Amino acid sequence: MHWRIAARPRGRELRIDDFTAHQDEPREPLQPGEVRLRTLLLSCDPAQKGWMENAGGYAAPTNVGDIMPATGIGQVIESGVAGLVPGDFVAGPLGWRHEAVVAAALLDKLPPDRERLPMHLGALGGSGLTAWFGMATAAHPDPGDTLVVTGAGGAVGSVAGQIGRIAGCRVIGIAGGPAKCRWLTEELGFAAAIDYKSQDLKAMIAEHAPGGIDILWDNVGGDQLDTLLGRLALGARVVLCGGIARYEQPGRPAGPSNYFNLVFRRATMTGILLTDHKADFPRARQRLAGFVDSGQIRTREDIAEGLEQAPEILMRLFRGENIGKLLIRVADPE
Ligand SMILES: NC(=O)c1ccc[n+]([C@@H]2O[C@H](COP(=O)([O-])OP(=O)(O)OC[C@H]3O[C@@H](n4cnc5c(N)ncnc54)[C@H](OP(=O)(O)O)[C@@H]3O)[C@@H](O)[C@H]2O)c1
Repeated sequence: MHWRIAARPRGRELRIDDFTAHQDEPREPLQPGEVRLRTLLLSCDPAQKGWMENAGGYAAPTNVGDIMPATGIGQVIESGVAGLVPGDFVAGPLGWRHEAVVAAALLDKLPPDRERLPMHLGALGGSGLTAWFGMATAAHPDPGDTLVVTGAGGAVGSVAGQIGRIAGCRVIGIAGGPAKCRWLTEELGFAAAIDYKSQDLKAMIAEHAPGGIDILWDNVGGDQLDTLLGRLALGARVVLCGGIARYEQPGRPAGPSNYFNLVFRRATMTGILLTDHKADFPRARQRLAGFVDSGQIRTREDIAEGLEQAPEILMRLFRGENIGKLLIRVADPE
């Protein structure tokens, strides 16, 4: 089966009826350069909602009726290209479908390590790479810096915080709920975690970052960004990675009222985009894998079962129900 986009969820929450389930058509012969894949795992990304909305920006346009786009990991069933044979594992734009025909040029061949396959959509995939390039090109961490990460219990935030910790920063994570906060401090080596759902962010950040914030990694935007801008240290770097607080809201949010603190603190605010760094992915993946091998970066994949449940699983991201990288298991490797 496969899922298609049925509506554009602009300015509101995702709904089950934004998607329609379809039976697959009979197989067509492969065209030159194509491979046929069995989908094993699918990545859940907040950006998928933006793709459905055709919100503009960097994503390829979508149409209502298109197969729901998603990055995933597949196993080659049939190949018309050199270098890929049945049984190989690849990552790429598979979409919400049990079986996909994809141009080989869009696929990355993965090592045959089955245990690590989920990691190639998380810490060693787009989430980890976003954290890597954002930290390297915009955050510029120095030992002793205070790094604050919003959305810290998720896929990108958990890796960004750990990269900062490795660079010698004192890392404070902001996340929803005690379980995420415990994971950050007890397992990932964050110095502190603030549960924004039950604690007063303004008071807690004053307590945990008395000298101000040197690096603010923001995945959330909205009120959290505004509150944290009010506590920047001199020369702070604000890295804008995402703004999930606005993804389900109608219209555009009001600008942050504390933005003028950038002037008082001679701070910078930089937007980052993963897709700017494609040429450097292999080297960055190698560095991230080294940190995973040595135990300096810990990863967590939150794997939910079944393509049939895909819409419901994607919605969990927007309810904050994932810890670490949210994935959909479609099938086991053969
Ligand atoms: N710039 C780039 O190239 C790039 C690339 C990848 C991702 N991103 C962005 O990075 C951010 C994190 O993505 P991810 O894949 O790592 O997702 P994620 O953090 O694994 O999952 C989303 C998390 O966001 C939090 N959240 C959801 N709704 C929220 C709200 N209204 N207010 C505050 N927090 C909310 C939830 O955690 P809590 O329980 O803590 O609320 C949820 O678990 C997203 O904004 C995404 O768009 C940017």
